[in-house]
Amino acid sequence: MAEGQEKSERVRLFVALDLPRDLRERIGEWGRQALADPALRPVSVENLHITLAFLGSRPQQQVEAITGVVEGGSGEAPLVALGNPEPRPRRRPKVFGLPATSPGAEALQASLVGRLAEAGLHEPEERPFWPHVTVARVRSESGRSRRPRPVEQSPEKLPEKLAEAWFCRRLTLYRSELQPSGARYVPLAQVKLPETGRQ
Ligand code: 2AM
Repeated sequence: MAEGQEKSERVRLFVALDLPRDLRERIGEWGRQALADPALRPVSVENLHITLAFLGSRPQQQVEAITGVVEGGSGEAPLVALGNPEPRPRRRPKVFGLPATSPGAEALQASLVGRLAEAGLHEPEERPFWPHVTVARVRSESGRSRRPRPVEQSPEKLPEKLAEAWFCRRLTLYRSELQPSGARYVPLAQVKLPETGRQ
């Protein structure tokens, strides 16, 4: 590849709080029945996460600085309690997400976004942070329309066991690769969050 070409390469980045494997697997099991409507495309178990900062398409040269900010932060493993699936937008949903109640995750998000902004690497979004795990995306109608298909069978509630609070012990900077078969998320940097049991 020519040098100029390499320099202009861009990557799609986001930082997420990873969910423990057990929790992801349980969400997957629940989703087999709960997300059965043919209009829904359930998110695969390995792709379930809580996005803290979506950075979008960035020049490859920024990855090192962004990694430095992500790795430079400190924080405890937050306790996260997931709620029943919610459609977004409500009228003609494009996605269904499990809302996350977690003061710890909100504090981590505020600190991360603040540090990225201070370093000139991120413009915080104006809309308030909605901590959630996207569990399904709605397929588009056929033809040229990009409108989401109507969902007749709304996702069922979570079983009680799934609504317990879980510690999330890892923060990851991901590169998102959009492919015809769905998104592939490649971890570029990871930070372990110690569990102190105080949150
Ligand atoms: P979502 O699951 O609620 O769509 C990778 O795309 C991750 O970044 C997803 O978790 C996605 O959230 C999140 N994200 C936030 N803002 C986004 C945007 N404008 N475009 C795509 N993904 C976004």
